[in-house]
Parts: sequence; structure tokens; C-alpha cells
Amino acid sequence: MSLDVANQTESAHASFPFPDGPEWTERVRTPSSERCREMWALWEMPEHIQMHSLLVTRVALGIAEMVREKILPGLDIDQVLAAAMLHDVAKIYTIRHGGSHSQIGAAWVQERTGNPVVARAVLHHVDWPFAMDLQRYPVSLIVCYSDKRVRHTEIVTLDERFADLQERYGVNAKARHHIQQSLEQGRAIERLFSEGLKVELNAYSFDSRRMV
Ligand SMILES: [Fe+2]
Repeated sequence: MSLDVANQTESAHASFPFPDGPEWTERVRTPSSERCREMWALWEMPEHIQMHSLLVTRVALGIAEMVREKILPGLDIDQVLAAAMLHDVAKIYTIRHGGSHSQIGAAWVQERTGNPVVARAVLHHVDWPFAMDLQRYPVSLIVCYSDKRVRHTEIVTLDERFADLQERYGVNAKARHHIQQSLEQGRAIERLFSEGLKVELNAYSFDSRRMV
């Protein structure tokens, strides 16, 4: 999505103070973890992507609980759970057939669940195009950041995750530039959370909810 289009969409949403809030999803259900697993099966998600998604979900829920406690009491944790579980649901399809796994995954999730908050988080989990605003987009920002903290099936720092991406996908200058930009965005989201939560997320262990 171009920045112009993103900005237009952003202003169209401006009348809603909290796009990830309940007024956007009051007529639809958020899928439970069981429903998410049914979608994994339906779309043939391989086991290693299931493991990756569960670890992203663990990180996302750890952050979501802190965000709800310290910043947004109205945060719907179930939306974070569903979006984290489903963020890579179309990965294997695009490996087989091409295309953008975030766009196709979001289309599937929107069609099947009708939940715009969960679908938005799937759509933008690689690059976040709107305002870095935790009050407005907590679900998307939590999932986008959490995915950047999991390398395959291991919780790592942003630097470790992006070193791996550069090694695997940094095949030319353009690709390396894009990966670097994505790292910068991950750092910006990390600062946003760290400042809001008064916790250094970079050094946070999501295994024990204690600093490593
Ligand atoms: Fe992904």
C-alpha cells in the first residue's frame, strides 16, 4: 500500500477513536484458539509454521497482558490471540502458488471470521503502514512486533531476527534496504511499547515474564 493510500485510509478512520476497539467488532465473534486451529487444518498449515505461530502468540499475549494492565484496560486479549495464531495462515499457500501471504491470509480470515481487527493485524504483520499509535492499533502493533521477535521457533532479539532475514533474503541491495527498513520499524514499535510499559522489551524473556 502506498503512503498516500495509507494516509487517506487513516483519515477515513479518524472519526473512530479506537479502531481496534469493540465498536468495530460488536457484530462479529473473535475466533477462539480451537477455531484458529480448525483454520490451520483447513489451510494445511505445516507443523513448523504452527510452532512458529504458537511462539509468536506467546510473545503477543505476554505483551498484551502488560498493555491491558498499564495502558489499555479495554484491550481485547482474544483478538490478539487470534491474530497471532493466524498471522502466517496463508504462508504455505504462497510458497506453493506465489503471492503475498499477509494479503491472502487477511482475505481468508476476513471472509471466514468477518473480524476486521484480526484481519487487519494479519494484513499488516510484516510492514505497518499507519500511525505508530498504540491507543488506536494495539492488536496490529503487538502482532507485528511479536512476529519480529521469533526466528523460526525461537524467541530472539530484533537484531538476531533481522540478521537471519538478511542472510536468507538479502540477495541484492534493494532487498537488503527493505529488510533494514523493516528492522528500523521494529525498533520504533519496540520503543513505543518500552516507553508505554516502562519495560525494556528488548531484554524481556517471554518464557517467565522476567528480564533475561
Ligand atoms: Fe508472516
